[in-house]
Amino acid sequence: MQHWHILGAGAIGGLFATLLQDAGIPCTLLLRDDDPDLAAGSACITLRRDDQLHKHRFAVSANSEDSPLSYLLVCTKAYDMVPAIAGIEHRLAPGATILLLANGLGYQEQVQARWPRLDCFAGSTTEGAFREARRSICHAGHGSTLVGQPGRPSAPDWFASWQGLQTSCEWSADIDTVLWRKLAINCAINPVTALHRCPNGALAEQPQLAALVRELCTEISAIAIASGQAGAVEDLHPQVMAVIRATASNRSSMLQDVLAGRETEIDYLTGYLLAQGQQFGVEAPRNALLLQALKAQNAGHAPA
Ligand SMILES: NC(=O)c1ccc[n+]([C@@H]2O[C@H](COP(=O)([O-])OP(=O)(O)OC[C@H]3O[C@@H](n4cnc5c(N)ncnc54)[C@H](OP(=O)(O)O)[C@@H]3O)[C@@H](O)[C@H]2O)c1
Repeated sequence: MQHWHILGAGAIGGLFATLLQDAGIPCTLLLRDDDPDLAAGSACITLRRDDQLHKHRFAVSANSEDSPLSYLLVCTKAYDMVPAIAGIEHRLAPGATILLLANGLGYQEQVQARWPRLDCFAGSTTEGAFREARRSICHAGHGSTLVGQPGRPSAPDWFASWQGLQTSCEWSADIDTVLWRKLAINCAINPVTALHRCPNGALAEQPQLAALVRELCTEISAIAIASGQAGAVEDLHPQVMAVIRATASNRSSMLQDVLAGRETEIDYLTGYLLAQGQQFGVEAPRNALLLQALKAQNAGHAPA
């Protein structure tokens, strides 16, 4: 029987914990050693969906405990992936299954390089959730999730149970393209909205922002193509504009992070893109300036 442990029981981790539990799959939350829920021996996640509250109680385990983990879902922010896994690495048996579910690129390679004996999978989700309180999650938008492992055409046996979750969860034989496409779209939208502190729709409405998005798309496409990811950026600009129009009133996750004074995931979005550009000799001055400006803004300003 699969028993999943969730590292990073925030909005997305908490949502997937409830989905797994609803599907009858045992699930335990891994918590920092000072988490108050450890003393209680369990944690209750309240999920608000379509204005209804659903309570889920979970077994909990301190990161520093030593019982082994066979199936691990990691849903921290991209920059927390490696340090969070390092905090529980003593519990990971060789060959343990680990599914990394966060935005951005770069941490997957870091995890694979540091723990080469893990059976490492990557996911990308368009589910939308946010934390209303520490263990209260609002499931704000229904989406779909793709899971895969580079070079692996068909799903492993364990994935059959994930296909029974009450959400669309599919195997992708080409997860690299999926992750790159999401990265490309995020790089063209999120940093611009975070720098200009505007909703997504402003990127279509304001001519100078629309022109910037077009230039960013050109650079992003050139880097993706040089990286062997041409399929991920086919029609990138029209796709980006379609996302902007479909989410016009939304605040991007990066803008939300900036407004809340939280660290952003930009190093795993534009930062990763620029590192790829450097590796393949493709310059991307508009993306580089954007990264620089956003970092300068966040270093110099208190949260709004
Ligand atoms: N939310 C969405 O709608 C959404 C949609 C698609 C993709 N994503 C992506 O999914 C990822 C997670 O996003 P999120 O919104 O779920 O973030 P989140 O609510 O901040 O959740 C991350 C969780 O990880 C926990 N964590 C970090 N290090 C830990 C450690 N060492 N031990 C135990 N817990 C640890 C954090 O705890 P603390 O709070 O105590 O630090 C937090 O609860 C991001 O990459 C995001 O871009 C999110």
